[in-house]
Amino acid sequence: MARHLITSALPYINGIKHLGNMVGSMLPADVYSRYLRQRGHDVLYICATDEHGTPAELAAKEAGLSVADFCAQAHDAQKAVYDGFALAFDYFGRSSSQQNVEITQHFARRLNENGFIEERAIRQVYSPADGRFLPDRYVEGTCPHCGYDKARGDQCENCTRVLDPTDLINPRSAISGSTDLEVRETKHLFLLQSKLQHEVEEWVARHEAEWPQLASSIARKWLTEGLHDRAITRDLDWGVPVPADTWPELAAEGKVFYVWFDAPIEYIGATKEWADEDPSTRDWKSWWYESDETVRYTEFMAKDNVPFHTVMFPATELGVREPWKKVDYVKAFNWLTYYGGKFSTSQKRGVFTDQALDILPADYWRYFLIANAPESDDSSFTWEHFTATVNKDLADTLGNFVNRVLSFSRKRFGDDVPEGGTPGEAEAKLGEEIARLLAEYETQMEALQFRKAAAALRALWSAGNSYLEEKAPWLEIKTDKDGAALTLRTAMNLIHLYSVVSEPFIPATSAAMRQAFTLPDDTATWVSRTEAKTLTAVPAGTPFTVPPVLFAKLTDEDLETYKERFGGTAE
Ligand code: 2FM
Ligand code: ZN
Repeated sequence: MARHLITSALPYINGIKHLGNMVGSMLPADVYSRYLRQRGHDVLYICATDEHGTPAELAAKEAGLSVADFCAQAHDAQKAVYDGFALAFDYFGRSSSQQNVEITQHFARRLNENGFIEERAIRQVYSPADGRFLPDRYVEGTCPHCGYDKARGDQCENCTRVLDPTDLINPRSAISGSTDLEVRETKHLFLLQSKLQHEVEEWVARHEAEWPQLASSIARKWLTEGLHDRAITRDLDWGVPVPADTWPELAAEGKVFYVWFDAPIEYIGATKEWADEDPSTRDWKSWWYESDETVRYTEFMAKDNVPFHTVMFPATELGVREPWKKVDYVKAFNWLTYYGGKFSTSQKRGVFTDQALDILPADYWRYFLIANAPESDDSSFTWEHFTATVNKDLADTLGNFVNRVLSFSRKRFGDDVPEGGTPGEAEAKLGEEIARLLAEYETQMEALQFRKAAAALRALWSAGNSYLEEKAPWLEIKTDKDGAALTLRTAMNLIHLYSVVSEPFIPATSAAMRQAFTLPDDTATWVSRTEAKTLTAVPAGTPFTVPPVLFAKLTDEDLETYKERFGGTAE
């Protein structure tokens, strides 16, 4: 048994996430965690909402709420969706927690003591009307390149050029609209990442061989470009305050840390939130501190997050000069596209996670998304592909098998698993095939190759169909009742095995399959080699029931309705 710490990139608080966010971080982390738990490992799966920064302030303003109230509501709304997706976090925290404040401030103090933080004066836009410095995206004006009159201080949305607020023509405050803006000097804390470049390089070199190419190539690119010192504080009302004991002047000015400084620290913060709920049984430090040898830490994220997790957060952890756990394995994903175009939160294009659950239960989405995860390349979501996959894999190959076997057996043999027959050549061949496919599934899951693991799972389901077609118990029963009983009993054992091995992908359906049988142990404990070969976990005489149809077949009409509602093209 090993100890596995698992985190998925913290979803930003500013809105409900789309399916692309889900498949690139939380869902695969959940699938992996569930699998490891079934294998008997000690797993801690941590996630949280990422609550600081300007987008949170802007979203709160749009909602007409204080940032604190907005974040509290938005956290609950996201959590409800993740519960709907059956994401089994050990803890889903909030980066605005007191625990994160304390640990973030501790990190900053230690970095300072170790000579990795410096106060520097920079020039920034100040708005007397608003009584505050304006972060780049709070300054609006006309783009000097294309003349677009709603360009933001960080970027022009129209021509995509990166801007500095001082580049804008006729700049105004995005908060009050005031054009009375000044450029004032203000002090900020800078993290001297350049001093840590060498150490980070050494650390990456020791780990990257094990990482997937997507993660190591991005880390390398950033290191080659060189680590730059960067400002880690901002002039915002909402964030982790700069500690007054160390920087009294900046604290008095109300400076807070930059969201990307405190967000990854919240992986630790949320673990402490978890432990603080039951300190007598939970030890957060054993997961994070002096735990290099005892804990294996796997992070899940989309590719845009890779630089922060492979280079910047490790730099911070190294600079603290304390034995904080650093990531062992970085599982990075490409993009899920919507008909080849971008899923876009701001433009509301694509399918959002709450809408997905309105349409169909979580298992439909979980299976489709993981089976088509953007691992080696971007992958495209289309309604055609989704409905075809649901119908073929879930409704036909799995669902139909389960219902056919159980209904037929009940009709011919009653409510208990039928007795009779001696396993022969067909069962031996099936056992070999199941054992082989199970080994393949385990190998792929352990290598975090989700598409390949899904393919192995699908092959396990198909093997049952082939066996059933070959034995044809509906014909067999006419001449050899015992033989038909054996076939059905074997098929029911396959259903039980499917319930166990499908659990990481489709947990609700797995539970329904398992609960069809009245067995003393109805947990999803992993399948042993012997069980895979002999298929005898469900003995003759076990009472069973026929569950309702596991997966509804989606019709052409359904497909048209979805396309109409969400748009069936990229733009
Ligand atoms: O990209 C994002 O959505 C960020 N909220 C991810 C943060 S991950 C972690 F470092 F906190
Ligand atoms: Zn422009």
